[in-house]
Amino acid sequence: MEWGMKNRLSQLIQKDGKALFLPIDHGYFQGPTHCLEKPGETIKPLWQYADAIMLTRGVLRNCIDPAIPKPVILRVSGAVSVIGDLANESIVTSVKEAVRLNTAAVSMSVFVGTSGENKSLTNLGKLVDECEDYGIPVMAVTSVGKELEKREARYLALVARISAEIGARVVKTYYCKDNFDKVVNGCPVPVVIAGGPKTETQKEVFDFVYDGIQKGAIGVNLGRNVWQTEAPVAAIRALRAIIHEGCNPKEANDLYEQVKAGKA
Ligand code: 5RP
Repeated sequence: MEWGMKNRLSQLIQKDGKALFLPIDHGYFQGPTHCLEKPGETIKPLWQYADAIMLTRGVLRNCIDPAIPKPVILRVSGAVSVIGDLANESIVTSVKEAVRLNTAAVSMSVFVGTSGENKSLTNLGKLVDECEDYGIPVMAVTSVGKELEKREARYLALVARISAEIGARVVKTYYCKDNFDKVVNGCPVPVVIAGGPKTETQKEVFDFVYDGIQKGAIGVNLGRNVWQTEAPVAAIRALRAIIHEGCNPKEANDLYEQVKAGKA
């Protein structure tokens, strides 16, 4: 692997082999998402606890201080909306722009088993080809659109493996309760877990992140279950404790409650 690629990956994946990515890219297809109406404000108390932030160029340029000492994962796919055909994404930001913005990685969604399967996978291949020239890792984002029931091992393992075969350096997938180890074991590149829609309790998030890591995920790319929660700083600090400090879900939940109560 070239030095530039190694350097960028080491900005994202920490020395302990783990990673906590904080995505705030949801507006690219959802518009002003709840709690992300002003992304710069949302992220201000949170970024220091993340290993990298994931967002689009529009939010990066307009809402994020260029002096922020965190690597950026730039979402480069889009041109769809929640009221249209989500699977029909194109690449909307060039690799030249990613270089200009000094990004540590780029990300795009893949839509396996949909009308956008071939287009998104072809786009992934082209993006990887171009990014490899500059030593920029591509993170493939497994997308299930509105079909949340697709979050089961057989499907997720299929998409993760296909993305890695095409050349993604990191794969974002969803967690599934049964056989999540098959998703990770079948994927030859590091896997991070997304959070999905906000859960009823915060403990559920700590449980699935902990279990996902036990089964081989290196960490998370998790947004709504941080910044849509009652206590976002407490949520991200508790996730950090699981990912980087080896805490179990109960310890993480105790920390969450303490930070929420202003006691830690
Ligand atoms: C939005 C994304 C998100 O970055 C990803 O799904 C993680 O966010 P969340 O934890 O809120 O699901 O790619 O399309």
